[in-house]
Amino acid sequence: MRIGILTGGGDCPGLNAVIRALVRKGEGIHGHEHIGYRHGWRGVMEGESLRLTIESTRGLLHRGGTILGTSRTNPYTSDDGARRARSILERDDIGALVAIGGEDTLGVAARFSADGIAVVGVPKTIDNDLSATDFTFGFHTAVQVATDAIDRLHTTAESHDRVMVVEVMGRHAGWIATYAGIAGGADVVLVPEEPFDIEEVCRHITHRHHDGAGFSIVVVAEGAVPVEGTMAVVSGSLDQFGHARLGGIGNVVREEIERRTGFETRVTILGHVLRGGTPTAFDRVIATRFGIEAIDAVHERDFGTMVALRGTDIVRVPLTDAVRVLKTVDDALFSVTQVFAG
Ligand code: F6P
Repeated sequence: MRIGILTGGGDCPGLNAVIRALVRKGEGIHGHEHIGYRHGWRGVMEGESLRLTIESTRGLLHRGGTILGTSRTNPYTSDDGARRARSILERDDIGALVAIGGEDTLGVAARFSADGIAVVGVPKTIDNDLSATDFTFGFHTAVQVATDAIDRLHTTAESHDRVMVVEVMGRHAGWIATYAGIAGGADVVLVPEEPFDIEEVCRHITHRHHDGAGFSIVVVAEGAVPVEGTMAVVSGSLDQFGHARLGGIGNVVREEIERRTGFETRVTILGHVLRGGTPTAFDRVIATRFGIEAIDAVHERDFGTMVALRGTDIVRVPLTDAVRVLKTVDDALFSVTQVFAG
C-alpha cells in the first residue's frame, strides 16, 4: 500500500522520531511505500510531497522539528479545500493517511475519516491537552526545557532579591506550567484552568519576602487569565482554527506584581524555545512506539483510530475520542503547586 504521512499544527520534538518509526516498520517489515506531505494539510491540498524511504529517514531520531514541515492550514476553511485534498490523495494513489498532530490536525483527520478516507492519527502537542492519551510526545521535552530555565532563573533571582515571572506555552491547559512549576520549585503557578487573583498572588509574594525568602518564581501559562474584572488582558490575532496568538500575559503579570508589591520583577518568555531542539529520551521512546503502533494499525486496516498512551501501554482509540474534550489539569495535580505557594 502507498501511505501518506503529514505533520500539522505547531512543531514539537519527537515528530521526526514518529516519521522514522513509521517508515522503518512500514517499509522494512510490512513492505509499504511512504509519501510525506509538506506542511500539514496544505501539502495534501496542494499536492506537495516527497518520497520517504528507510534511507531518507535515517538519523532522525534525535532531530527536533519535522522534516516534512508543518502549518496550521485547515482545508475546511476554504470552499474546495477538502475536495482538493481528496483528489490529490487519489492522484497519488494513497491507500491510507497517517496524520500526526494536535486537536486541530486530528479534528480535520476525524472529518476526513467520517467522509470515508482511511486515516490513523498520532497525538502530538507540547501542551499535553489531548484527551484519550495520558501523554503526548513533546510535552516531556518542553517540561524539561522549562525546568532547566527555572533552575537558572532561581540563582539569579536569589542573587538580586527579585521576582522572576516565567511565561510558558499552554493555550488552554496548564500542563507545562504545572509540571515545570512543581519540578522547578515555583512559588506561584498560574494556569488557564484556574483564573487568578493578582491581589492574592501579590499577598503570597509579599508574605514570602517578609518571611525571609527574598525572591520568588512565578510560572504563568500563556493562556492563564485573571479573575474577571481584576486586570486588563491582552488579546491576539486568530489562526485558521480560530485560536488567538497568545504570549503577553507574563509582561502584564510582571508589571502588576512590581507595581503592587514594590519588588523588582523581571519576565522571561520561554515561548518557542520549549518546542525546539532535541527530544528527551522519554519523548523519543513514546514517539517511536506511537509510530510503530500507527503503522501496524494501517497495515491491519484499523482506520479511524488514534494511537495513545494508557499507563505504560500503547493502545488504539477512536480518532473522535481524541478531539472530543480538551484534557485540562486536574485539581489533585494542581493542588500540589499550592502546597509550595507563598
Ligand atoms: O499548540 C501548541 C502551542 O505550542 C501552544 O501552546 C501555543 O499557543 C501555540 O502552539 C503557538 O504556536 P505558533 O506560534 O506556532 O502559532
